[in-house]
Amino acid sequence: MSTAQLKTAHASWEQPTGLFINNEWVNGVDGKTFEVVNPADETVITSVAEATEKDVDIAVAAARKAFEGAWRKETPENRGKLLRKLADLMEANIDKLAACESLDNGKAITMAKGDVGMAAATLRYYGGWADKIEGKVVDTTPDTFNYIKKEPIGVCGQIIPWNFPILMWAWKIGPAVAAGNTVVLKTAEQTPLSALIAANLIKEAGFPPGVINIISGFGKVAGAAISAHMDVDKVAFTGSTVVGRTIMKAAAGSNLKKVTLELGGKSPNLVFEDADIDNAISWVNFGIFFNHGQCCCAGSRIYVQESIYDKFVQRFKERAAKNVVGDPFDANTFQGPQVSQVQFDRIMSYIDAGKTAGATVEIGGKRKGEKGYFIEPTIFSNVSEDMKIMQEEIFGPVCSIAKFKNKEDAIRLGNATTYGLAAAVHTSNLNTAIEVSNALRAGTVWVNTYNTLHHQLPFGGFKESGIGRELGEAALDNYLQTKTVSIRLGDALFG
Ligand code: NAI
Ligand code: MG
Repeated sequence: MSTAQLKTAHASWEQPTGLFINNEWVNGVDGKTFEVVNPADETVITSVAEATEKDVDIAVAAARKAFEGAWRKETPENRGKLLRKLADLMEANIDKLAACESLDNGKAITMAKGDVGMAAATLRYYGGWADKIEGKVVDTTPDTFNYIKKEPIGVCGQIIPWNFPILMWAWKIGPAVAAGNTVVLKTAEQTPLSALIAANLIKEAGFPPGVINIISGFGKVAGAAISAHMDVDKVAFTGSTVVGRTIMKAAAGSNLKKVTLELGGKSPNLVFEDADIDNAISWVNFGIFFNHGQCCCAGSRIYVQESIYDKFVQRFKERAAKNVVGDPFDANTFQGPQVSQVQFDRIMSYIDAGKTAGATVEIGGKRKGEKGYFIEPTIFSNVSEDMKIMQEEIFGPVCSIAKFKNKEDAIRLGNATTYGLAAAVHTSNLNTAIEVSNALRAGTVWVNTYNTLHHQLPFGGFKESGIGRELGEAALDNYLQTKTVSIRLGDALFG
């Protein structure tokens, strides 16, 4: 097994770099590898094995064997115990996992620790669900006994993004495994490392071989192979809307595997004149700049009631200027670098598009420093609805701010997007909070808060933001199918 010795100011560890299939570390069949980059200084951290179609076939075969064999025979209680053990091991390894996450993804170390904690909490929560999945008995006619049971779907392909590598890993694995499925999970090519550390913990927790397989690789190769695979029963994806469409087409063109998608967003943050302004500014700031703007639910469209607009813009600028941008390993840092050169370039081109279209840069608008993919927190005003920066997901520390007149106007603007992942309302009026929340077409609406996700609360998209829900009891539905058993009683012959 190949490994690399990695070291940061916070931890040093032996980093696995292979493919984790059948509880073993292997190289790819073709022996390919790819480089993993530290976005804070653009250096190469290490190289990892790259999975191709052939490796996907091997991983799927391992997951199939486990699904038909050892995992099928495992009790729900034991599935739960294993997930809870994995959660404990992740907590015991928090320093290493968080340091790895900061190194590979660039996120601030305090945030990375938060992600590891939430990942463990998610696994523990689904561990609790494993022995609480129940069916029903339904009376139809007196000579029939009907029961409806929930069964796992089978082998699940899971394709995750780079913005929350270890957290998305847990969001995907928790409900799938609790429900009795087996998994082939592909990490994002930008951030494969933390998942490989966690893979060792899967083995240590005692999961049978083949239940959870973790591979590194590229979307167009390994991701496409999973989506089109004839022996993968379900694919779950988090990432861009364009790739979500591709995955759905691949599912349709192969074995009609079940599909759940958690896609992009352009979420509105609506601030009413009666809001507590200090509170609203803190959450609006956190809503867009948390995780460097790399959140599917980022509050990137900020609409403020016209009577408080000027004051709000001024105070928001002052607040954003205080966000500490810099070294992810500094405990005071709030915003690290963007994840990659590609994302950096994409965000800078959106900033250029905003400037060219005539929007006003209130703050930021430039690269920060010369090394690493750092971008200044950027606020645009004078943005019209038809501008690209108001319509498209930027996925960086860039937001647009505009005015609304009244409640109806706020609702109209809030819904003026093809997306529907999240939204927020800031108000001290209970009626406004409830009326506007009910009218917004979004999977999550926050009131006087933002980005406060919790593993007990379902999360997912209306409209083009996705299909299915993650977290909460709702996510189990993505990984279960319903079987009806209808038994004819008595000895009367049919006809
Ligand atoms: P992406 O959608 O290409 O990547 C996400 C995952 O999909 C990765 O694991 C990737 O390897 C895989 N993938 C890529 N092409 C695939 C294919 N043809 N078949 C199967 N899997 C494939 O996202 P990317 O390019 O990294 O980021 C582009 C934009 O996507 C971002 O700027 C952002 O707007 C959005 N995005 C949204 C995320 C979310 O949380 N909803 C997360 C990451 C990106
Ligand atoms: Mg990286």
